[in-house]
Amino acid sequence: MPKQKLRRFGEIKELDFVLEYPYSVLEREDFPYKGKWREDFFQTPHPLVLELGCGGGEYTVALAEREPMANFVGVDRKGDRIWRGAKEVQEKRLRNVAFLRTDINIIDRFFEKEEVDALWITFPDPMMKKSRRRLISSYYFEKYRRFLKQEAMIRLKTDSPFLYQYTLDLLEVNSISPRYATNDLYNSPQEIQEAAIPDVRTRYEQQWLERGMSIKFIAFSLPLSDVPFKEPPKEPPRDDYRSLCRGSQKYQEEVAKKIRGEKE
Ligand SMILES: C[S@@+](CC[C@H](N)C(=O)[O-])C[C@H]1O[C@@H](n2cnc3c(N)ncnc32)[C@H](O)[C@@H]1O
Repeated sequence: MPKQKLRRFGEIKELDFVLEYPYSVLEREDFPYKGKWREDFFQTPHPLVLELGCGGGEYTVALAEREPMANFVGVDRKGDRIWRGAKEVQEKRLRNVAFLRTDINIIDRFFEKEEVDALWITFPDPMMKKSRRRLISSYYFEKYRRFLKQEAMIRLKTDSPFLYQYTLDLLEVNSISPRYATNDLYNSPQEIQEAAIPDVRTRYEQQWLERGMSIKFIAFSLPLSDVPFKEPPKEPPRDDYRSLCRGSQKYQEEVAKKIRGEKE
């Protein structure tokens, strides 16, 4: 493993607001703050907001700074990405932030029924080949509703036309009306931009914007009934580019150029 990654892993292990819980640990012991995030971890009664696939946790940190009367947990499995946000939290001495390093596949082991007030899902990998691995999918919706409050808002930001259309189809087939949906956030009415907190941009978002791409945004709530979620009958056409998580800089530039060309 590269030295820098190792150093970062070591550093975040020292921070008491970065919690590391892989599946192997949860097989041996229960997560101690499940149902007790407010009382035992944050020691405040404030609302609890999660950012899933947070990377460097740009939303987690920015929102925590603006909203001291809420608590924020950034979740990602990659420790070196979390490290960036964690260093900022340490420097700014924010007391209302935690990072949870784990696989979101087991997210429902960390939060109790109706414990979470809102979710942000920022630039998830579209996972075009495997719907079960999409952080937005019927599979993950089942997990999220095990801990979301009634009317809890889920906010998705994505660069992917595929994921945007898939999410609209997924909502429709499950009779969920989105509160907001736009395929071009920064050219949308003010009210929609405000709902997405326009001056907070994640690292991936910034990179896509610099390449002239439009950002898509959907906000909605899940019904908390027992009716199983359905998948849409068919998938939208796949994007001809991959997430910025993958591919070299050169590849990304070429693809963005192509997409811009297609738009013009
Ligand atoms: C494309 S990156 C976006 C990062 C950040 N939200 C941003 O916009 O800059 C997707 C992130 O989701 C994380 N991720 C994807 N699937 C995950 C899973 N099942 N469990 C935990 N993290 C996951 C990845 O590690 C990665 O950091």
